[in-house]
Parts: sequence; C-alpha cells; structure tokens
Amino acid sequence: MKYLGGAAALAIAGGVGYGAYNFYAPKEELPIISEIPKETPKGGEMMKPFGELIYTPDSAEGEALGKVESHSPKIEAPDSVGAEKTFEVRITVGPHPNTVEHSIRQIDVFIAEDGRAFNPIFLTTVKLTPVYSEPDIKLNLKLKENSTLYAIEYCNLHGLWESRKKIEVT
Ligand SMILES: [Fe+2]
Repeated sequence: MKYLGGAAALAIAGGVGYGAYNFYAPKEELPIISEIPKETPKGGEMMKPFGELIYTPDSAEGEALGKVESHSPKIEAPDSVGAEKTFEVRITVGPHPNTVEHSIRQIDVFIAEDGRAFNPIFLTTVKLTPVYSEPDIKLNLKLKENSTLYAIEYCNLHGLWESRKKIEVT
C-alpha cells in the first residue's frame, strides 16, 4: 500500500513537472533572424546592420568627415611577411583627447584570411583607461595566408572607427 502511494506521488510530481515545463514554454514562435523588420514597429529610424554603424575613412560622411583623421586607427605593418614568421604591428589613434569625458576606450584587432570560409579571426581587444592609457599598441603576429588586418577603435563620444591593411604572405 505504501509503495503504491509512493508511485502515485511520483506520477503526480511528474505531471506537475511537465505542466511547469509547458508553462514556461514560449507561447508564440520567436522571429527568425532574417525576418527582423528593417523599421521599428512605429515606423521609426531604420534598424541598421551593426556593420553599418562602424565608420571607415572611405564611408564617413557629414559630421563624421571631420573626425576621420583623429579617430581612424593608423596601422603600421609590413606590406608583405614570410609565412608563419613573427612580425610587429603597431596601431595608434589620434591625436585625440584623452580625458575622463572623452577618450579612446578600446581597440579590437581582427584578420580576414584569404580563402577562409568564415571570417574574421579575432586577435585581441585592448581596453584603455582614460588619462592613464594611450591608444598606442603593439602586437606580434604570424600569418599563414594573405590577410586583411582590421583595427577597430571605440571613442566614447564618436563611436566605432575601422581601418584595414592588406598583408601579403610570401
Ligand atoms: Fe572622439
């Protein structure tokens, strides 16, 4: 008798558990990424793909044109390097203010390797503390294939700025 009672209790617990699972399941289908609307429901500003939010020297326009020189990362790297031979890359930004209110806060570095199915490859992120850290970094890299090096910096007032450099592997 006690055993049967235990079995009944387990069956009820199982039912409650299943019910709880259903309770938390989404009631509506989630939108498929490719079907996200290009405008807000109220017809507001276009929802841009994230890549379109990154300024580049060749795409900046309007007010951003005056920020190109002070915000685009400057990449110093060889035009060609030996396969898997270490070489140095220096990335600087500026002249640019370096105050608590306005400074370069972060530099991200990626490469896109020629012939690779999916790019880019993340290399590093350098976070910068205003006043104390200058946006002037050096990396030692090795490449296997011809690649494009991307440096993307973030200014807390003027957004994301990208520069790129092609590096040939011989
Ligand atoms: Fe800025």
